[in-house]
Amino acid sequence: GHPHMAYRGTDLFCEQVRLADLAQAHGTPLYVYSKAAMLDALAAYQRGFAGRKVQICYAMKANSSLAVLQLFARAGCGFDIVSGGELARVLAAGGDASKVIFSGVGKTRAEMRQALAAGIGCFNVESEAELEVLNEVALGMGAQAPVSIRVNPNVDAKTHPYISTGLKGNKFGVAHERTLATYQRAAALPGLRVVGIDCHIGSQITEVSPYLDAVDRVLDLVQGIEAAGIAIHHIDFGGGLGITYNGETPPAADALWQQLLAKLDARGYGDRQLMIEPGRSLVGNAGVCLTEVLYLKPGEQKNFCIVDAAMNDLPRPAMYEAFHGIVPLHARSGATTTYDVVGPVCESGDWLGRDRALAVHSGDLLAVLSAGAYCASMASTYNTRGRAAEILVDGSQAVLIRPRESAADTFKNEILPS
Ligand code: LLP
Repeated sequence: GHPHMAYRGTDLFCEQVRLADLAQAHGTPLYVYSKAAMLDALAAYQRGFAGRKVQICYAMKANSSLAVLQLFARAGCGFDIVSGGELARVLAAGGDASKVIFSGVGKTRAEMRQALAAGIGCFNVESEAELEVLNEVALGMGAQAPVSIRVNPNVDAKTHPYISTGLKGNKFGVAHERTLATYQRAAALPGLRVVGIDCHIGSQITEVSPYLDAVDRVLDLVQGIEAAGIAIHHIDFGGGLGITYNGETPPAADALWQQLLAKLDARGYGDRQLMIEPGRSLVGNAGVCLTEVLYLKPGEQKNFCIVDAAMNDLPRPAMYEAFHGIVPLHARSGATTTYDVVGPVCESGDWLGRDRALAVHSGDLLAVLSAGAYCASMASTYNTRGRAAEILVDGSQAVLIRPRESAADTFKNEILPS
């Protein structure tokens, strides 16, 4: 899963950089990202879309570090955002507002104004009520908002229920049956300009079939909407392609898109402007989180390996019981013991890995793998633990892209009543 994270002899490297050296220099917990791994992941999509009209909008919630955004902006990407805060980050990183699409079920009027003023490319509207508000806000600014309606294709992405979004029972998108009526309303509102259609069926999808089903459903809708006289300029298929955390075998991005494009071609939509919103698959396996073993605590039922990274730094195991590989930075020979790898936070849910066979001593350094997506971006300061530092590696160069947050940083905006 980690093409640019590999052992040389007994030591784990990120590209040309020995990870233990970074941990030594910057302390732990420490996020380290490989630029080459991110660009390779993007290249797989670019290969899949060669010769097509496509705008890749990186779903920046996966990893919203400015340096990561800059890298994707320079590579030609737009961005899928879900808040005014994310728009501010895109602009701060030098991203192009016209390549930004704004998703999410709860956009506020203030966020709509901010996005209209910045001149974003498209609002992915998720409800009929939102259409009315966006129309009002745009008219109030003497503007016209470019819109696409997020449709819920009602397909099962066969993933964790918390990250499946394309089924009827969840809060995302407009129901299949309401789609045409919603487009007709949008087309009638003077503050809106219909530009596209979009869907997003879930995340960490490891099979092709849910995508094929969604493409069919969305194209059926496009046909109906255009038959009603409303032109659909772009079709946005969302993100969701999974990565290998623990033996999963998701399709490669280029292979997936070859199949989907064949379906588009067969139905006569192959020359449309396309859009996609990948997040995890661009960054997930480009990052690791380095952590130090603080204590080994043998027990009757469980042995604990207590490390200095915790659920506040890397919340996916606690939130979704997600699996992340955990490996030593310096491989030791000798017998392994089975440990639960846990952090210092005062919660039983504060674990990073369960039942892991490790040969470790206190003071050893470990890497939590597949930590480039939804890890640092979901971190909190719970237990007043400052957020981890982040490093971007490019060949033999390692650049600090975010210094470690101090305790004082975590409360610098708080006010003591007099
Ligand atoms: N577009 C929309 C509208 C989305 O809601 C998402 C992710 C994406 C694109 C990008 O999906 P991706 O390619 O990354 O699967 N925190 C969870 C994942 C939440 C995904 C939310 N939406 C996790 O750690 O697994």
